[in-house]
Amino acid sequence: MMRSLDFTGKTVLVTGGGAGIGRAIAEAFGANGAKVAIAEIDADRCAAVDAALKEKGVDALVIEADVRDRAAVDALMPKIEARFGGLDILVNNVGDSLGIHGPFEFNSDEQLDGLYATNLRSMFLVTRAAIPLIRKRGPGGSIINISSIEAFRAIPVCTVYSAFKHAITGFTRSLSLELGPEGIRVNAIAPETTETEQVRPSVLIAEEHRHHVDRWIPLGRFGEPEDAAGCALFLASDLSGWVTGTTINLDGGALAAAGWYRDPNQFWTNVPVVTGNGFNF
Ligand SMILES: NC(=O)c1ccc[n+]([C@@H]2O[C@H](COP(=O)([O-])OP(=O)(O)OC[C@H]3O[C@@H](n4cnc5c(N)ncnc54)[C@H](O)[C@@H]3O)[C@@H](O)[C@H]2O)c1
Repeated sequence: MMRSLDFTGKTVLVTGGGAGIGRAIAEAFGANGAKVAIAEIDADRCAAVDAALKEKGVDALVIEADVRDRAAVDALMPKIEARFGGLDILVNNVGDSLGIHGPFEFNSDEQLDGLYATNLRSMFLVTRAAIPLIRKRGPGGSIINISSIEAFRAIPVCTVYSAFKHAITGFTRSLSLELGPEGIRVNAIAPETTETEQVRPSVLIAEEHRHHVDRWIPLGRFGEPEDAAGCALFLASDLSGWVTGTTINLDGGALAAAGWYRDPNQFWTNVPVVTGNGFNF
């Protein structure tokens, strides 16, 4: 059987496809022949991505929707079915630390609920609503959850976000068992720091430390949204037809390095020799 990255005749839904990683994923699927549905909360981003996809001749359906909202999610699927007749690929991309950084002890109920709604509940809602549409196409469907390298590593003072990203690993594994017998695969992508609207290493990291990126990311750079798009295309295609229940660590080798980084002489060390915190705060 010929295996390829040709998505002609396939339909993908990308949540949060109006910016960052989600937009790069949506554009990559469009460039490789897929029909692209997007659920995006921000009206301006909806208009911008809609125009960009249509300019490239992509058959696109951009829906302004909040995927935390059960009614909005349930309303999405009939629209996708009416337009495209079904769904082959779901990319659960929405997720956000919501700028909540601080000791767990002081997280308010609203912060806990907000992080849950954005990072996990939205994924549950969209996936549950999408399964019947994916099943309609028969074997070959693919669900891709955007996690974080912080699903496999701690983040100090971002404990709740990290906990929900860890939960995505369990959701991905368990759902892959449920859907495997139907030929529907479920996998995740766990990015390390990637320049997007939400995460801005180019702004966050103090200028005098930015050129040190090759000292802590073995492949010598931060992620680009297109890196995630490459992984998503692979996980959605029949090139990964025997891959399910797993996560691609999309991290330039950062997790492999763990606490190891390179000193100014490019010598690997795990001794904390940096002074200051390196950030702009
Ligand atoms: N950028 C990184 O460094 C990084 C690292 C690890 C994991 N991630 C994960 O990657 C995913 C995408 O992150 P990003 O950096 O591209 O984010 P981003 O904020 O740049 O883009 C997210 C998009 O989702 C939309 N969105 C947010 N909430 C929504 C909702 N409730 N309903 C519909 N749309 C909504 C936003 O408007 C935006 O267009 C997230 O799950 C994030 O946790 C990102």
